[in-house]
Amino acid sequence: MTDIDGKALAAKLQGQLAEKTARLKAETGMVPGLVVILVGEDPASQVYVRNKERSALAAGFKSEVVRVPETITQEELLTLISKYNQDADWHGILVQLPLPAHINEEKILLAIDPAKDVDGFHPTNMGKLWSGHPVMIPSTPAGIMEMFKEYKIDLAGKNAVVIGRSNIVGKPMAQMLLDANATVTIAHSRTKDLPALARQADVLVVAIGRGHFVTKDFVKPGAVVIDVGMNRDENGKLIGDVAYEEVAEVASYITPVPGGVGPMTITMLMEQTYNACLLAGVADGQD
Ligand code: GUN
Repeated sequence: MTDIDGKALAAKLQGQLAEKTARLKAETGMVPGLVVILVGEDPASQVYVRNKERSALAAGFKSEVVRVPETITQEELLTLISKYNQDADWHGILVQLPLPAHINEEKILLAIDPAKDVDGFHPTNMGKLWSGHPVMIPSTPAGIMEMFKEYKIDLAGKNAVVIGRSNIVGKPMAQMLLDANATVTIAHSRTKDLPALARQADVLVVAIGRGHFVTKDFVKPGAVVIDVGMNRDENGKLIGDVAYEEVAEVASYITPVPGGVGPMTITMLMEQTYNACLLAGVADGQD
């Protein structure tokens, strides 16, 4: 069994990104800019946002975190997004989710200029991904694809099962696996006999949000197991969706939590911001 070391891969890619960014700045004067909008004071969101800011600064980007109170109205938030949509200094705009209940998440995500939608959550970007012409793609599945590449895990003809059907992970993951010529099944909480289905997988991606949900009896010997989960156990310890200890006994490759998928997500977000900056530069040149 091999641990897929997301932390090490993220650090390597982050180093390469800092070099690319420095070169871009020297050659064109362009500096990628990422603005993150955080509504309210959700503790987990605060940690994620702080990590994003740290990663952006480490890459040499221009970075801003706009913290607004939970009481902000939808109109005010839309106005804020519109301001950054129009400001050419900012290439990436990210609104941290979840949003308070009085704000319509769909309306907010729709308001972000698709060219600046570094999360890849805008329907235009989701549609481009599904039609085989990806531009901005969600960071978590993008990071998982980088892991497959780094560890030379060939996906062509493999049976891939994705447990979880969210717009953020499950659905875009399925499309990326399909694009890499895997045969893909999306499973979820209502799937019948999930362990039996999961046992058909050569590649099993788990993003269901339940601590230690996937046990050894879900896993075919030799399968590759990717754990997207970030849950807290009763002692507050961070645990994945996969019961790591027992699954590691049968998997060929497995991602640990922490240190697996998590660090890759942020690094891929920075890659997307860099790419958004390049695309903005190209668009400028064509004016
Ligand atoms: N909340 C949890 N994960 C994410 C993410 O990838 N992007 C945004 N915007 N919010 C999140």
